[in-house]
Amino acid sequence: PKATKAKIVSLTPLRGSRVRVSGWVHRLRDQKDLIFVVLRDGTGYLQTILSSRVAKTFNALTLTLESSIEVFGTLQAVPEGKTAPGGHELIVDYWQVLGSAPGNEDAFTNRLNEKSDPSILADLRHLVLRGETSSSVLRLRAALLSAFRASYGAHDILEVTPPCMVQTQVEGGATLFKFDYYGQPAFLTQSSQLYLETCLPALGDVFCVQESFRAENSHTRRHLSEYTHLEAELAFVTFDDLMTHIEAIICETVDKLLADPASAALIKQLNPNFTPPSRPFLRISYVDAIDWLNEHGIQHEKEDAEGNAVRDADGRPIMVDHAVGDDIAEAAERQMTDIIGKPVFLHGFPAELKAFYMKKIKGEGPAYTESCDLLMPNVGEIVGGSMRISDMEELLAAYKREGIDPTPYYWFTDQRKYGTCEHGGYGLGVERFLAWLANRYTVRECTLYPRWPNRATP
Ligand code: 4AD
Ligand code: MG
Repeated sequence: PKATKAKIVSLTPLRGSRVRVSGWVHRLRDQKDLIFVVLRDGTGYLQTILSSRVAKTFNALTLTLESSIEVFGTLQAVPEGKTAPGGHELIVDYWQVLGSAPGNEDAFTNRLNEKSDPSILADLRHLVLRGETSSSVLRLRAALLSAFRASYGAHDILEVTPPCMVQTQVEGGATLFKFDYYGQPAFLTQSSQLYLETCLPALGDVFCVQESFRAENSHTRRHLSEYTHLEAELAFVTFDDLMTHIEAIICETVDKLLADPASAALIKQLNPNFTPPSRPFLRISYVDAIDWLNEHGIQHEKEDAEGNAVRDADGRPIMVDHAVGDDIAEAAERQMTDIIGKPVFLHGFPAELKAFYMKKIKGEGPAYTESCDLLMPNVGEIVGGSMRISDMEELLAAYKREGIDPTPYYWFTDQRKYGTCEHGGYGLGVERFLAWLANRYTVRECTLYPRWPNRATP
């Protein structure tokens, strides 16, 4: 009889009929008279059963893990007392190998697992992706990006696609990847923020999902050399509006994922203890955060004028209390969020620790900015945002202080010339958000082919 070709995820309505499914051998169990094959096609897993007669009749090749095969047969509900993905199994009456794989003698199918050496896992990322955990993380990533887009749509915020190749910096010259652009120097973008700002008078509030690049020699759990940057820019808002908006986008996006059975199942699989954050998020000013760190005995490494750790006679770094003006480094930030155990906004950072474009809080004494970092347990900073300098003269002074030549920024400066407005925005690291959502140890697990210092393969 005729067989209906279908993907595994959409088999349920075809129960009782003859179907044709293609995929890869995910698991294999040989039991004298029956061979149980779990087939994987990217949309799901399917239990298939071959009788030894069927197994022998149609193909002389032996079945091996990771071979691509095509099976035909009748789909039926699993017998009572047994379980299988989707609640059904395929009784195979015809099958063929499309592409065979080496099978049990092979490094991937036999020995590679999550405990393998990290450099081997990185080299074999193209095969690791086939695993249940890695593929679920990437499925959840796709769902997350869709949910973010839906959330922005619901707020009437339009998606744009800024360029990756640029001739300006945003987050400091030290972390730019430079390249030759038809004989001119150019960079891979660090952030699309400046471009989003120019969109406001044309398109209203905007967001983008764009790769950002950072030439940072950071070998940490949360730094990539290329990462997916979700950025948004909002016009006619106050700093308070901005933080409330960030909260709303994050919570609405999480709610959408949990309301969708497929995404909710992925979150449950990867992060069984996940609980959605409640609003409003805790807000702590930078100055109060410094006190909080000292009250909790969280110190940082003492540094010399060049920024190198100062060590004692035994070579151990000397630890000191935090003082106002210090950067809150990754280690301290992580300890802080681990103790607090829920999302927290740190806001009002000193101007000298932050980028040139940030709006300053008016007042006497050292300059603070209308800036915020959102920290999550297990990851630390996942969002960096601020209000922007909206005044032309103030921006020109900021370029000067930072030692930036204003010439190539003329288009950014012009936004202050042609109808400026109070505005602000933020960038969210998609891999960091996913590391939080899916409880992953490192952002390296949260992107298809991660890049970090000296790693651009595969
Ligand atoms: O804090 P950052 O550097 O802020 C900006 O780039 C702003 N211009 C964004 C804006 O306001 N439109 O980066 C924003 C976020 C961080 O909070 C972090 O989540 C992520 O981007 N991020 C990284 N993620 C992975 N690897 C890196 N090297 C990252 N650097 C920043
Ligand atoms: Mg930041």
